[in-house]
Amino acid sequence: MKALILAGGSGTRLYPVTVVINKHFLPIYNKPMIYYPLSLVMLLGIRDVLFVVNPEDLDSFRRLLGDGASLGMNIGYRVQNSPRGLADGLRLAEEFAGDDHICMMLGDNIFFGHELVNIMKEAKQDIEENGGAYVFGYYVNDPGRFGIVEFDSDGKVVSLEEKPEEPKSNYAITGMYFFDSNAIEIAKNIEPSWRGEFEITSVNEEYLKMGSLRVKLLGRGFAWFDTGTHHSFLEASSFIETIENKTGLMIGCIEEIAYRNGWIDKKALLLAAERLDKTDYGVYLRKVAEGEIF
Ligand code: DAU
Repeated sequence: MKALILAGGSGTRLYPVTVVINKHFLPIYNKPMIYYPLSLVMLLGIRDVLFVVNPEDLDSFRRLLGDGASLGMNIGYRVQNSPRGLADGLRLAEEFAGDDHICMMLGDNIFFGHELVNIMKEAKQDIEENGGAYVFGYYVNDPGRFGIVEFDSDGKVVSLEEKPEEPKSNYAITGMYFFDSNAIEIAKNIEPSWRGEFEITSVNEEYLKMGSLRVKLLGRGFAWFDTGTHHSFLEASSFIETIENKTGLMIGCIEEIAYRNGWIDKKALLLAAERLDKTDYGVYLRKVAEGEIF
């Protein structure tokens, strides 16, 4: 399976903060936002990643993450000339994905929770073995901001809706999707929504019609942030700060994950630490390399 991380979009909801800087570079506590979705796909063991980016941000992404070699990964970029929607990002991944299954992740989503990675690994395996699409629902008190999934009394999915005015449920569809290789063809054939975007919800609706959409609910033990508003930025930053300071362990530390996955060796990790000099982040990497943090 390959991963596609969407990091384009207009970012207008965060203006004036994002007038000159793409939101995915902004800090969520002590690291750029984009580290968090990248770290999750790394934890799933996925080494081939394509980022969909805006033309003006391509150089900055290259400066930040390069071609992935320093993480023992293959990282590529595809420019999206205008923010035509999430399913457009899927279309742009056609060449990259080939016949592979796809894990698509939104660059502004942050997940945290016990057993989260195992739950997502199960979904990944399910798609690899049985095809179809797999998404995760999360109970929210502001459902109108999201793609929403409605269930019947037996827990069967009845409908999906993108940012409904009158939401039929409080279950938002989060920004982590697993698709079989048909997703790209489906994305190429959907119509734009009333807001002129190719919606990922339309792709998921096609899978629902075919009877091959699976939805797993993430319960109270999980935290999920869609960092699309100033408030959620602050919330996510405070959350990361609290957990990291309590445990002394970093969340979303991409070099640590690459090292623990066996994708880079101690020398490469120490090199990364050296580049970050005497920052807390660099000191942390050095501790990981010396086995002082397990
Ligand atoms: O966060 C979950 C929600 O994400 C889902 O519940 C919705 O169904 C889904 O449509 C999406 O809604 P948002 O309004 O939050 O999407 P947003 O425009 O913020 O874009 C999500 C990410 O995708 C963000 O990191 C920017 C990137 N993006 C977005 C667009 C529209 C692109 O790379 N290209 C695009 O054309």
